[in-house]
Amino acid sequence: MDRIKIVGGHKLEGVIPISGAKNAALPLMIASLLTGDRLTLKNVPNLADVNLLARILRNHGVDHSIEGKRASPTPHLGETFHLTARDIVDTTAPYEMVSRMRASFWVLGPILARMGQARVSLPGGCAIGTRPVDLHLTGLKALGAEIDIDGGYVVAKAAHGRLRGGRVVFPKVSVGATHNVLLAAALAKGETVIENAAREPEIGDVANCLVKMGAHIEGIGTSTLRIQGRDSLEGAVHTVLPDRIETGTFAFAVAATGGNVLLEGARAGLLETALAALEQTGAVVTQEADGIRVRRNGSGVDPITIETQPFPGFPTDLQAQLMALMATARGTSVIRETIFENRFMHVQELARLGADIQLHGDTATIRGVKHLKGAPVMATDLRASVSLVIAGLVADGETTVNRVYHLDRGFERLEEKLSRCGARIERISAG
Ligand code: EPZ
Repeated sequence: MDRIKIVGGHKLEGVIPISGAKNAALPLMIASLLTGDRLTLKNVPNLADVNLLARILRNHGVDHSIEGKRASPTPHLGETFHLTARDIVDTTAPYEMVSRMRASFWVLGPILARMGQARVSLPGGCAIGTRPVDLHLTGLKALGAEIDIDGGYVVAKAAHGRLRGGRVVFPKVSVGATHNVLLAAALAKGETVIENAAREPEIGDVANCLVKMGAHIEGIGTSTLRIQGRDSLEGAVHTVLPDRIETGTFAFAVAATGGNVLLEGARAGLLETALAALEQTGAVVTQEADGIRVRRNGSGVDPITIETQPFPGFPTDLQAQLMALMATARGTSVIRETIFENRFMHVQELARLGADIQLHGDTATIRGVKHLKGAPVMATDLRASVSLVIAGLVADGETTVNRVYHLDRGFERLEEKLSRCGARIERISAG
């Protein structure tokens, strides 16, 4: 298994290009199931999760090609995917696939909408929490789906062969359930209203793509989505929006090490709460024509009290990275995780580097220490792993991050992007 070796203590200076958003690219690729025409997606990041989803979609009959060569001379511009689901050849998404990537559960809505039936494995729990799918199922039931659970699979049928519009009121905000119902509603008969929809920018990106495919959607970017379903949808060309979590991750890394970096292609409007938090810690954030600049010179890191919330609140996907930054703050910070019940697995690993963190239920209290010290650490999930990279960049001496495959799921060319800005970071291949 590959490892990442970091020698900490170097400031970051330079330019980091921001990739297309993983969490938009995945549902956008799934949207290709809704039409027999070609869906072209630009700015797709080259990530393990994207490649795995492409394989999963191929099983369902999606023809997938990548324009040009993989090793593009301008890799930061992302790849262009052509996806064509002329026929859905298999309406089953098997356990072996769905258990490897939860987002593949989101094929349920579109396959059901297009074919009138679908059989998709339940994804099971994962490192960050139990992650149920009840909201996905009640949402689809409101569109006329009849659902049974059989042998670990969701077996869904559309009453009378086709989903019909309905009113879905989510009792809790869920990104995945919103995607699933939104995608299904685009091909359902009549109008669907989703209330308390997630407002994450990636939902808006998918909705905008569906509009290009011929769906009529009102309320994009708000918590009430009104979708007029179509009998069929067309192909479209769509550019994946920049990754706000990658943006925030590098922004926090610069704040942690000190330095001055332009996050090229980043959009401040996608992560205002996170950038405001960063400014509270003493970093300087400026929007420039070609991205966001983050600077921190000499001064220490100020502590912060914050809780994770659905968009536009502080994102759970940046909680671990913020904690790494707070590990060397001048005082005590408090971070409350309200989205996932078990998203603190980085705490033990950060402690191995000398961080002083106490956990009480959903709340972490971080007493800033003067120095972290390098050590071998273990990545547990995607965002936790990158928090260890940030801590390693700050720590004195050498840190080795094991189980790097977690990072490869969601960060494109991480070592390269950081080392170009002066970090001493390298991948050690298992051989
Ligand atoms: C998406 O996961 C993201 N994944 C996650 O990013 C992100 O952390 C999360 O949204 C929250 O922002 C992708 O976009 C691929 P949810 P999702 O449904 O959709 C509960 C990463 O690192 N819930 O919004 O699975 C759930 O348990 C990943 O890129 C139900 O109770 O998250 C959680 O407490 C990790 N019933 C809360 O809702 C349901 O049916 C929010 O989960 C569904 C969810």
